Amino acid sequence: EQIKKGNYDHFMQKEIHEQPHSLTTTMRGRLRDNDVVLGGLKDHLKTIRHSRRIIFIGCGTSYNAALAARPFMEELSGIPVTLELASDLLDRQGAMYREDTAVFVSQSGETADTLLALEYALENGALCVGITNTVGSTLARKTHCGVHINAGCEIGVASTKAYTSQIVVMVMMALAIGADKISTQSKREAIINALPDLPNKVSEVLKLDNEMKDLAESLIEAQSLFVFGRGYNYATALEGALKVKEVALMHSEGMLAGEMKHGPLALVDETLPIIVIATHDACFSKQQSVIQQLHARNGRLIVMCSKGDASSVCPSGSCRVIEVPQVADCLQPVINIVPLQLLAYHLTVLRGYDVDQPRNLAKSVTTQ
Ligand code: G6P
Repeated sequence: EQIKKGNYDHFMQKEIHEQPHSLTTTMRGRLRDNDVVLGGLKDHLKTIRHSRRIIFIGCGTSYNAALAARPFMEELSGIPVTLELASDLLDRQGAMYREDTAVFVSQSGETADTLLALEYALENGALCVGITNTVGSTLARKTHCGVHINAGCEIGVASTKAYTSQIVVMVMMALAIGADKISTQSKREAIINALPDLPNKVSEVLKLDNEMKDLAESLIEAQSLFVFGRGYNYATALEGALKVKEVALMHSEGMLAGEMKHGPLALVDETLPIIVIATHDACFSKQQSVIQQLHARNGRLIVMCSKGDASSVCPSGSCRVIEVPQVADCLQPVINIVPLQLLAYHLTVLRGYDVDQPRNLAKSVTTQ
């Protein structure tokens, strides 16, 4: 087992640091001449473009990856995009039609809830697309078409590299679906040009490792942690909080910053640590005002911002700042999750918990 871990102490740590490589393999052979080629989808693109809705379905981290994908999938495809937690879709027996494209996201391709939701979508006549890391998995076999994320084997129970590769696959999928849409061509080209450099940007953000360890030391005793995000990074807030919850066994909640004043604000005091994701995008000024409101209530703030923005997100210098490299807005969630993965990892080690086999959890939940 130690051989498989290489120079790392844990699989989760190894998989976090492997992301520049896993993202490279996810994109390998798929970006060509200003275009995206996804072999597993090409015969179905026309049907997808004509569908009346794209529904993403998944559980846990895979659901969060779909949440990260929704804004740009909607933007680049022009098709309404909805999201379903697999178990909730089944509980409700939610509406699903022949004109729908149902996209199932699952690292293992064997999660029972996701597979049951797939059966349900097949029965209802939807076009079923699979996004998985596991060649030959039930999901890969039973869907009509799909894309492998090619992130390499993920062993740590807490998903890390699969999350970032899932997002990149969904970016590529959005680019492929939106290929014939004139109004978004310049944005599309900008993303295609930015993708090859993404692994380098991830290498850059991984250099925050010691800083995140230091932050984890300051949070060891905390009872709770809040993470606020919005827009492209609403998913980052949920996924960052999920990582902390899963492995560091600390109560942690990811929340939509736009909902802060409708409840969560009541919990803010000088002891509760709050991470606010405020990297530069269309929501930046809204996040600046969230920071001001939290500041006015003496919140214990940790702000994630784009490099060079520290003084504009925290003019008083009283909050802790995590500066990350800026990339195209729809790729920013791939960068922003990395410091939070590192934070969850270090918090777990410092609190003395099992990193790779967290209490009560399984890598793949194959029963309902
Ligand atoms: C379990 C794992 C999570 C994972 C989820 C979905 O709960 O502990 O890490 O995100 O299942 O798994 P999947 O293989 O479908 O992506």
